[in-house]
Amino acid sequence: MKKLRVGVLFGGRSGEHAVSLRSAASVMEAMSPQKYEIIPVGITEEGQWLAGGDPMAALQRKEIPGDCFYAVMVTDPSTGGILLLEQPTGGPVKEFIPLDVVFPVLHGPYGEDGTVQGLLELAGLPYVGAGVLSSSVGMDKVVMKILFQHCGLPVGDFLYFKASRWIREKDSIMDQIEDKLGYPCFVKPANLGSSVGVSKASSREELSRAVDIALRYDHKFVVEAFIAGREIECSVLGHEEPISSVPGEVVPCNEFYDYQAKYIDERSELIIPASLEREVADRFKELAVQAFQAVECSGLGRIDFFYQEEGRVIYVNEINTIPGFTSISMYPKLFEASGIPYPELIDRLIDIALQRFENKKSLLTTYQP
Ligand SMILES: Nc1ncnc2c1ncn2[C@@H]1O[C@H](COP(=O)(O)OP(=O)(O)O)[C@@H](O)[C@H]1O
Ligand SMILES: [Mg+2]
Repeated sequence: MKKLRVGVLFGGRSGEHAVSLRSAASVMEAMSPQKYEIIPVGITEEGQWLAGGDPMAALQRKEIPGDCFYAVMVTDPSTGGILLLEQPTGGPVKEFIPLDVVFPVLHGPYGEDGTVQGLLELAGLPYVGAGVLSSSVGMDKVVMKILFQHCGLPVGDFLYFKASRWIREKDSIMDQIEDKLGYPCFVKPANLGSSVGVSKASSREELSRAVDIALRYDHKFVVEAFIAGREIECSVLGHEEPISSVPGEVVPCNEFYDYQAKYIDERSELIIPASLEREVADRFKELAVQAFQAVECSGLGRIDFFYQEEGRVIYVNEINTIPGFTSISMYPKLFEASGIPYPELIDRLIDIALQRFENKKSLLTTYQP
């Protein structure tokens, strides 16, 4: 059988660059060499695409060795692949590499937010995971929450503002936040992940500082009422009829699940499956599928919740359309506990990508009266 040639994209122009390298290294290691020919494509923090040689090592060392070439996605859907160039601005073409499918293992902006997905649509290539719309909706916490509310999902209280208004009306914005949400509250850039730029504020001074931090990463920020509760997560897999894994629980080692607690300090715990009563666990699984469908997600998505045991109150916090994907990350671990081992999960995701692409092919792209 001919091997499927899979372009694996990693790195990227995002605060989550380093996390992506780890996810992609795990994915490439687990992909069956009998089934797949892997073409690793690394994207630097500046956004340059590299292929040939060992782009993973190049990104890890932050220097471009001589055997790496600059890669350009060809947006002619009849060819579908990447060109390797000797110079970033052109120069001699080294090689054209056609691809059968792409697996973007990119977290955060310029990767998980619909931009790369748009490029892959233009290139006429099947790709793993959410399409353009659900990727960008999943990345924007404001639009995501509004859509969740619209679909009847339980969402905590929140407010959002643009940087331009914050500069003009800082005091009145802070009054509004204090009136509606109170302290402590959580301040986040609207578009990001991995807790980059997220702070908990317990006073007006802290709020002001937290907003300044969030605005370093985005021109829009969200403020949420603090929800004291357990952090429960479910993984979802599929397209038209997605399935949910068992729920898992995160027990952060810090005051909240910040970047340090997620990736640096090893004392945060993942409890799989989460210790929950049967009906409550089933409710999480139902809500996870509903949240996945609310944003029209495809392929994979990890849905994060807060759970207040007293009164059994559940809030949907967010969907991550490209969740952490190392072999010890929550997303694959939850499916492993639900009977789908890591390498099979990758196979299924690639199958879903190919099927979705085939389905889309039957749509007309020209007007036919
Ligand atoms: N409203 C909230 N109440 C309590 N804790 C929160 C709230 N929002 C976020 N957190 C904490 O901050 C972490 C990161 O926030 P989250 O919205 O998940 O951002 P990211 O997309 O960066 O993961 C959460 O996992 C949780 O520990
Ligand atoms: Mg999160």
